[in-house]
Amino acid sequence: MRHAALKGLAGLVCLALLTSQGVAAEAKKPARAKKAKDKEFVGSEACKKCHVAEFKSWKESFHAKIVQPRKTGILKDVVEKWATDGKSPGPATGNVTSGAFQLDDVQYVVGSRWKQRFLVSNDKTGGLQFLNKQFNRLSGQWENYGNKNDWNTMCGTCHTTGYRILEVDKASGATLKASWSELSVGCEACHGPGARHVSAKDAKAKKRTIFNPASVSVERQSKVCGYCHIRAENELYKTAQGNPREDLPAPKVGETYKAGDDWTKWYPEHVSIPGVHPDEPFNAEYKGDLKGLFKLDDAAKASGVYEEAKHHQQYQGFLQSAHYKSGQLSCITCHSPHAGKGKLKKVAKDACSSCHDATYTVEKYMPNTGKTADNLFVRSHTFNKEPRPTGKGAADMGPPQYYE
Ligand code: HEC
Ligand code: HEC
Ligand code: HEC
Ligand code: HEC
Ligand code: HEC
Ligand code: HEC
Repeated sequence: MRHAALKGLAGLVCLALLTSQGVAAEAKKPARAKKAKDKEFVGSEACKKCHVAEFKSWKESFHAKIVQPRKTGILKDVVEKWATDGKSPGPATGNVTSGAFQLDDVQYVVGSRWKQRFLVSNDKTGGLQFLNKQFNRLSGQWENYGNKNDWNTMCGTCHTTGYRILEVDKASGATLKASWSELSVGCEACHGPGARHVSAKDAKAKKRTIFNPASVSVERQSKVCGYCHIRAENELYKTAQGNPREDLPAPKVGETYKAGDDWTKWYPEHVSIPGVHPDEPFNAEYKGDLKGLFKLDDAAKASGVYEEAKHHQQYQGFLQSAHYKSGQLSCITCHSPHAGKGKLKKVAKDACSSCHDATYTVEKYMPNTGKTADNLFVRSHTFNKEPRPTGKGAADMGPPQYYE
């Protein structure tokens, strides 16, 4: 049955199409020069006609689904449980402005595999803010989401494509305006901006004008994924609320990360990336959002392997592994972000047997250690030969059921 609250969605979807420059930029139009720069990015739809297999399989992936309009992305369980569970009512308050909101007001949803968060307007910034609760798909419960930071200046870098900061308050470092070319992780997040490639005349020119992660060293391949699959604390750029950001938007205001860039070299004096910078080891105690980043207990000290204690830090787990140190494996040895030349390169199930005997399994050596929600974790990528007991993870749930 259709929920009455979902009426009026058609209007919201149109709004989503109009705001391809990003929601913050929509409120106050960015300077013309900056707009022109965004034209380097053409969006995933523009790749479809020539790369049908890659497009189709990417569209089915979670990269393409991380930020969705409410209509297509909201979970069935979320709609059914929004306000009906008397003991644990659904979200009702904006994180930043404390304004009151309802299901109807949700513009976008973020996440669907482990958890879902909800975006509503923020009339203070003209951008978006989160509601005060998130949905845990394993427990089927609402959880408090008390983080004050808003979407535009805290999350966009890793959840959109072609993100750029357009304006910063010089005195405080707070991000005032940002834009992106596309919501979610599009083709150009891993291949760089595609305008020149699309218009290039022949196959030779096509190859020259686009970045293919397969063509660089294994270390650089992992950095392409590591740009988002990390945890950092950024003192150069702050959120709109004045807290350190947790991402690395670009070397300079107005610029954007391009796949293949070595982001580990950007402003090292202003950013902490534990395990990446030599003076920031895995086994130190960090403060702020980096507190409790890695398991630092006796088991970790004994093995010298510090498993991920939070989610989205696969790169920092992987750097500690014998896999990374062997210089033979990168993220894309095991993961194929989409079908290549017509079929998926590797299936997770068979990811170990091509190199190891049958005692090496995902279940044994990739325990769920990185917390993403209450009692819900993502798999460790340290490949510790003395693995920890596992928590619950994605494999303990079926695939997400969307409302539509
Ligand atoms: C008009 C057709 C066309 C469009 C549109 C197009 N491509 Fe291509 N692409 C090609 C051709 C042709 C090649 C070269 C194929 C070959 O010789 O292997 C290619 C090759 C590539 C490669 C491999 C490069 C290499 O080093 O081997 C990547 C990656 C790629 N395209 C990504 C994209 C992305 C991302 C988009 C959208 C931004 C896109 N393409 C849009 C035609 C197109
Ligand atoms: C622009 C940021 C970004 C980049 C670059 C990126 N990812 Fe992701 N990745 C994400 C986000 C955000 C999610 C969460 C998607 C979700 O759960 O809805 C994700 C999810 C995943 C997942 C789990 C979901 C699934 O489809 O199984 C895998 C595996 C993954 N990424 C691998 C990679 C690899 C490999 C690369 C490099 C080739 C890469 N990612 C590059 C942001 C990124
Ligand atoms: C440095 C990059 C980065 C930043 C910054 C970031 N994320 Fe993520 N996020 C990821 C990646 C990568 C994943 C998927 C891998 C994982 O969860 O281990 C993810 C996963 C998620 C998921 C779970 C997706 C699912 O399908 O269950 C949600 C929800 C989410 N992020 C919301 C946010 C919000 C809200 C913010 C801002 C407060 C934020 N993220 C900031 C990289 C980032
Ligand atoms: C999360 C990162 C990521 C995203 C998103 C992504 N790609 Fe790729 N792409 C790769 C990697 C890594 C390779 C290298 C081959 C491999 O490992 O699959 C690749 C290879 C390619 C190739 C070369 C031929 C082949 O299939 O191996 C083409 C063409 C391509 N991608 C097009 C696209 C298009 C079009 C999209 C969007 C619809 C897209 N890619 C989205 C990471 C990505
Ligand atoms: C492309 C080949 C390849 C694949 C695929 C692969 N491994 Fe490995 N694995 C290696 C190499 C190389 C080493 C390092 C060996 C060394 O340093 O002696 C290694 C080491 C390990 C170690 C550490 C062993 C030790 O004694 O320190 C573990 C655990 C491990 N792999 C688990 C896995 C699991 C689990 C998978 C599947 C998800 C997997 N591997 C997939 C090549 C691979
Ligand atoms: C040796 C193989 C291997 C390598 C190398 C590897 N992964 Fe994975 N990864 C896996 C397997 C297997 C899974 C579990 C997939 C499943 O259960 O569907 C996984 C799961 C994930 C997930 C989802 C987490 C979860 O709980 O399912 C993300 C995100 C991810 N990998 C990102 C990365 C990134 C980023 C890199 C590089 C820094 C990387 N992986 C390197 C094998 C690998």
